[in-house]
Amino acid sequence: MIRTVRHDRSRDGIARSTVLRAALLGALVLVLVIPAAGFGGPTKHAGTQATCQLQVFSWWTGGGEAHGLDALIKIWNKAHPNMKVKNSAVAGGAGTNAKAVLAQRLAAHKPPDSFQGHAGAELQDYIKANQLEPIDFVYKKYGLSKVFPAQLINQIRYKGKLYSVPVNIHRANILWYNPATLRKAGISGAPKSWGQFISALQKAKAKNLIPLALGEQWTQKHLMETVMIGSLGPKGWAALWKKGANWGSPQVTAALNRFKTVLSYTNTDAASLTWQDASKLVADGKAAFNIMGDWADGYFRVDLKKKAGSGYGWAAVPGTTNVYDWLSDSFTLPKGAPHRAAAVQWLGFLGSRKAQDTFNPLKGSIPARKDANTKLYPTYLKYALVQWKGDTLAGSLTHGVVAPNAWATDFGTALGLFLQNKDVAKFQSALKTAHDKYT
Ligand code: GAL
Repeated sequence: MIRTVRHDRSRDGIARSTVLRAALLGALVLVLVIPAAGFGGPTKHAGTQATCQLQVFSWWTGGGEAHGLDALIKIWNKAHPNMKVKNSAVAGGAGTNAKAVLAQRLAAHKPPDSFQGHAGAELQDYIKANQLEPIDFVYKKYGLSKVFPAQLINQIRYKGKLYSVPVNIHRANILWYNPATLRKAGISGAPKSWGQFISALQKAKAKNLIPLALGEQWTQKHLMETVMIGSLGPKGWAALWKKGANWGSPQVTAALNRFKTVLSYTNTDAASLTWQDASKLVADGKAAFNIMGDWADGYFRVDLKKKAGSGYGWAAVPGTTNVYDWLSDSFTLPKGAPHRAAAVQWLGFLGSRKAQDTFNPLKGSIPARKDANTKLYPTYLKYALVQWKGDTLAGSLTHGVVAPNAWATDFGTALGLFLQNKDVAKFQSALKTAHDKYT
């Protein structure tokens, strides 16, 4: 908003000087602001990118999230002092806040230079809304065409064209625990079956521990997804996202009932905790278990300085042994990126082995590239690298693989109601309605 000061007394004088000042200021603002904000048009230096700030948008700000990105930015800035990264990350796990901010920016045609989007249905949302450029030329230029696994390429390709560079593979279905706490509670190792899990939760409860630490709502959806995969199996889970799926089946009812039982062992203040808060309850010995993605490995190891194996332990969520509930963070080239040429280089850099082998050991993820230097990956990630090769894949709902954002949001709304009323029949029917709406 431009404010002008009135000095002249005569009406005409006021009008003339105000208009003149406003016009001059307006022109100045146009000169100064537009190239920086980049309203979609080419900038003066579009070809050479002499000096610019490369806006990189993600939700990696907190513990377990920021170290990997910071390391990438450091390497990039050193090599590109004229196109340093402006870290435009918006805080909030799983991108709950970031995605809303991004949607506003895209609607206003003020995209960043590159933004984080999950491979799969979430990425397709942006493609279908005409907000992304296809980047096959980036793949060609930087030799990326053969470095990613085929199943991942399938999730970033739409109508024959590629739309993002994946930086990692995360696994959602991990049961984290603190070995010392389990010993204290008389729980002999990580439970594999649901029966063993419930009895372990009961033992923890009897020792006045939080049996299963839980955080804010997206982590509740995350928990639910893993319970469903553990109950229905990867095939049953995959079928739910197709046209004609039977959301009303007794198997789904059983999975939702199991979720309800599991919820009864969680902390009552879940809604006010971040995922890190919930993980920390395990690290601090206050909770026996937490179900979270393997970004928790980054948090335990890099932030909390815990030792894998003794400070924290892990296993597949019961019922999901040899199933990889996967997701992948990938970066895009938005249409109208203000510094497009720099963004193209950034994407090439993200696809490089050096970038992936720097980022992932800190983030708690395995690289999307097939040729990682496995020596650089600590204990949990060595396990993840092996599992990824042999496991059956299941796509994550909470992290964008199987359903578009709108469907996932409807799912979240139904879940919110369920958390209040705990009515499985109503919940199941709302989930069925959501399925019918989006298929
Ligand atoms: C996921 C994202 C991960 C991690 C997690 C917690 O959606 O893919 O990289 O950041 O959220 O915020």
